[in-house]
Amino acid sequence: MEQQVIISQDLRAEVAAAIDRVQPDRLFVLTDVNTRDLCLPLLKDCFNDSISQCFNVSFSQSFNLITIGASDEAKTLDSLAAVWTALGEGGATRHSMLINLGGGMITDLGGFAASTFKRGIAYINIPTTLLAMVDASVGGKTGINFRGLKNEIGVFNAASTVILDTQFLRTLDAQNLRSGYAEMLKHALISDDAMLCRHLAFDIEHPDLAALQQMVADSVAVKERIVTEDPHEHGIRKALNLGHTAGHAFESLAMEEHRTVLHGYAVAWGLVCELYLSATRCGFPSTRLHQVAQFVRETYGQFTITCKQYDRLYELMTHDKKNTAGVINFTLLGGVGDIRINQQASKDDIFEMLDYYREN
Ligand code: GLY
Repeated sequence: MEQQVIISQDLRAEVAAAIDRVQPDRLFVLTDVNTRDLCLPLLKDCFNDSISQCFNVSFSQSFNLITIGASDEAKTLDSLAAVWTALGEGGATRHSMLINLGGGMITDLGGFAASTFKRGIAYINIPTTLLAMVDASVGGKTGINFRGLKNEIGVFNAASTVILDTQFLRTLDAQNLRSGYAEMLKHALISDDAMLCRHLAFDIEHPDLAALQQMVADSVAVKERIVTEDPHEHGIRKALNLGHTAGHAFESLAMEEHRTVLHGYAVAWGLVCELYLSATRCGFPSTRLHQVAQFVRETYGQFTITCKQYDRLYELMTHDKKNTAGVINFTLLGGVGDIRINQQASKDDIFEMLDYYREN
């Protein structure tokens, strides 16, 4: 079944339609402890209506709620087993459906649980963070962390429907909004100049949610176009890795040093690094590089590093799972929207890139 991405106008009707599309025999809802308290109440009416229509039962009888811990630390084999157990004990069959209500951890883990339970049941994603709306919930990447490695175990299998509704962002703190916005900036960079200018001008500190909803729609459309062309990341889907080679190295270093860094912040810093490489190696315009660097500095601050950490960052980049045969694989740009996948850079280039990052 092709993935349907809905930009929500009427959450109640859309949830009903998404359930109706699959006609499940039983319904399960996965939340974390935060989205159970903050987001599930917004959905109760929808469930009430749509489930009554589909199953002719009352809200309390109509679905099984499964709740796991919040944050990336809960993205484990134990949580996954808890979800499988709850599905089994709740009588899920191959024709049941799981609704994932939460951020990227929930949509990734829930997607993987649904994809593997009885060899796969249908699931829908209702992302509640900006990061999950514009990235994790769309495109079929599912999985869990394993043995300290992020998203080490998983499968490609898309949700039947993804419903994007920025009303959930009212419950999101400023840091997590900024974190998701970094992926939107990335989508603008791989798309076109006008989109990039709109993103650089938008006030993400005091967002107008109606305007943001339209920008989320545009952003997800960029991702959908790419994922439709290359669902399993053999080629052009690597465009979505812009900023992530350096970004993941910052994220891993932060973890080693017990510094808290949200994924999108690391991506934003990684974008500055990789646009510098794009400028020196592929002719990306330096005016755009400086504009993005300034925006990132003002919005995300800087992850402080010294040249003593360059070797470790380089080593972390060589361990990135996107590499082949130990060669660091970058996605770079020749200009905004001019994507160059499978680019290599020498150790000297990477050290120079880190110098630029520290100085700008
Ligand atoms: N997060 C990048 C992708 O979905 O390919």
